[in-house]
Amino acid sequence: MKHDISAIETVLKTRLSQLPVPRDILKAAELKELYASMKAMAPDERPVFGKQINLLRNHLEAAIGELEASGATGAIKELDVTAPFEVNATAPPRLLTSEEGSRHPLSAEREKVAEIFARMGFTEYTSRELDDDYHMFGALNFPEGHPARDVYDTFITEDGLIAPAHTSTMQNRILRAFEPPIRAVIIDRTFRNEDVDARHEHTFNQIEGVYVDKNINVGHLLATLKAFLESYYETNIEFRIQPFYFPFVEPGFEFALSCPFCRKKGCHICSYQGWIELLGCGMIHPNVLREGGIDPALYSGFAWGVGLDRLVMMKHDIEDIRHFQSGKLDFLRQFS
Ligand code: PHE
Repeated sequence: MKHDISAIETVLKTRLSQLPVPRDILKAAELKELYASMKAMAPDERPVFGKQINLLRNHLEAAIGELEASGATGAIKELDVTAPFEVNATAPPRLLTSEEGSRHPLSAEREKVAEIFARMGFTEYTSRELDDDYHMFGALNFPEGHPARDVYDTFITEDGLIAPAHTSTMQNRILRAFEPPIRAVIIDRTFRNEDVDARHEHTFNQIEGVYVDKNINVGHLLATLKAFLESYYETNIEFRIQPFYFPFVEPGFEFALSCPFCRKKGCHICSYQGWIELLGCGMIHPNVLREGGIDPALYSGFAWGVGLDRLVMMKHDIEDIRHFQSGKLDFLRQFS
């Protein structure tokens, strides 16, 4: 009986990639049959045929080694939901090439923001996705039952935990963790139970700044924000502030910048106002410093909170915040 060894090799290699344990291919019936068939051969044919079988075995061994090294066997290991391929697929995964995938615009811009603040001496920290009432409100000078809590439209679990509605939820931890001078930025996700539309998402990102040292005043706060925005938008900006109430700052402000795109002439990005109301900021309230273990008689500081999504939408002229989480390839490909 004639055996087409190369056809058998093709069959076995295909099956190999589907096996939970690739090495089991060496127990394939086809291989056993090849060995068995040697017995029926003429003595002078055997060595030649034997060599061919050994070669086939070597090829299979090499393919097994490769599969084992890449971890791309047909075995269902643990479920990795972040995997960029179908984990239960039997064929080796097709990884994305740079042409097919790109960084999400929020990830790329987040890095740029962190870099600018790093140059200004700020260290970046992350927030958390579930926090408690104390960090979200209590440590930030929100009295129990105060209506200011309501504007945050928080998601609360049945156990009373809160999906942080602002990155200020990290302020107390930052104050407690370090001795002044403190220069921290927290860039992370925040959550609010609001009606979703082109300008509002239930999940968005904030950049929080916390700066504490001796003799810090409003001038330092404003100069820091101006320097950041000029660096981020790569142009000079003007700003204006007006008083605003946040329980955790005193004085507190709403900060508007001149439109970096039309230079106050009016365009669709600034809604033809020339100015863009961007963020909340102020001098950290003495009660908040005290709660963070810092003596307000010795130290003062400032804080701000700004939406990363908003900054990025303006920069790239993105008209709908919902695009960020939509997974729409048409949208994402514009940033590759
Ligand atoms: N946490 C505030 C908000 O999300 C913004 C803010 C941060 C205001 C720090 C002042 C100081 O609305």
